[in-house]
Amino acid sequence: MAEPILEVRGLVKHYPLTRGVVFRKQTGAVKAVDGVDLDLPAGGTLGIVGESGCGKSTLARMLVHLERPTAGTIHYRGEDVTRLSGRALKRVRRNIQMVFQDPYTSLNPRMTVGDIVGEPFEIHPDAAPRGDRRRRVRELLDVVGLNPEYVNRYPHQFSGGQRQRIGIARGLALNPEIVVADEPVSALDVSVQAQVVNLLARLQREFSLTLVFISHDLSIVRHISDRVGVMYLGRVVELGTDAEIYDHPTHPYTQALLSAVPVPDPEARERRERILLGGDVPSPTHIPSGCRFRTRCWKARERCALEVPLLEIPAEYRIWEGPARHPSACHFAEERRVVPPGGEDGDEPDGSGEPRR
Ligand SMILES: Nc1ncnc2c1ncn2[C@@H]1O[C@H](COP(=O)(O)OP(=O)(O)OP(=O)(O)O)[C@@H](O)[C@H]1O
Ligand code: SF4
Ligand SMILES: [Mg+2]
Repeated sequence: MAEPILEVRGLVKHYPLTRGVVFRKQTGAVKAVDGVDLDLPAGGTLGIVGESGCGKSTLARMLVHLERPTAGTIHYRGEDVTRLSGRALKRVRRNIQMVFQDPYTSLNPRMTVGDIVGEPFEIHPDAAPRGDRRRRVRELLDVVGLNPEYVNRYPHQFSGGQRQRIGIARGLALNPEIVVADEPVSALDVSVQAQVVNLLARLQREFSLTLVFISHDLSIVRHISDRVGVMYLGRVVELGTDAEIYDHPTHPYTQALLSAVPVPDPEARERRERILLGGDVPSPTHIPSGCRFRTRCWKARERCALEVPLLEIPAEYRIWEGPARHPSACHFAEERRVVPPGGEDGDEPDGSGEPRR
């Protein structure tokens, strides 16, 4: 694995719950992110998957320094950025940019596309000399497959997919090393989703970006990621290459998620086993003791309530080389192929972008 560009250790974000107006008293906390460890190798794509509310966006906001963690560290090129402030933080933030989920609300409707894409240059004036900014913006529009002549148009004059391209152009303006894309296609029509995913995949390769691609859609994540982290209730519970996670999952939660992915091939669909999870996701204010997945896990035993399983290679897979040899936070991790071979959505991204309009 390449040298990590970002090392996340024990990352925590707890939002306090308070009562009272004059004397505010903390009565508990929403444990949105509750101890995440991740290495981000330079130049690859890490997919993060998990159900709604598991802490994906909170993690994303901490990675790009829009929010300070409650605890834990984020080392960027060896430096703990959670301790930085002022100019030092600004220098780091320039290299780690975010693409937001909703292209309808994340673009200011009163600004032209040129001003939106060029806005980062106002904050980091040294990134492009004033006289050169217009040219840079047009170049960025071209890179994301938009007509540079549209530079004076407003967001409402674009489709959802085109707006997301504008958001991506803005994310690339400062030539960042890392881009965190939080559900970048969830608000788009299915027909447009593949185009935007393909665009991100192309940009990742072309600019050697390190991409974090967050989605609740496992099929989309598989298309674009070379490594995948599965999140449950504020923690990463399984981490591996796309083949390790999709074809050789060892964590019961990953297996349950995969068993619910639509399978296009009718024959493979017949052979696929469905794992139906009981109960609801517990509230992040009351996380179960021991393994946080135990209230929904069909394999749960006494040990699961007593001991927190660590995200590490399970003991029984440590001694042999094989696809099950990857970190999994389960005391009883066991390889189980849920999606039969040929059962995945076979459409490979073709790298083409949306035709220019
Ligand atoms: N500012 C905040 N104050 C209090 N609680 C918050 C705040 N932001 C997020 N949360 C809570 O933290 C938990 C994780 O939220 P988050 O938005 O990170 O989840 P998510 O995985 O991105 O979900 P989705 O897939 O729906 O976008 C949720 O229970 C959410 O209600
Ligand atoms: S540790 Fe126990 S409860 Fe948790 S996933 Fe493994 S078997 Fe299930
Ligand atoms: Mg989210």
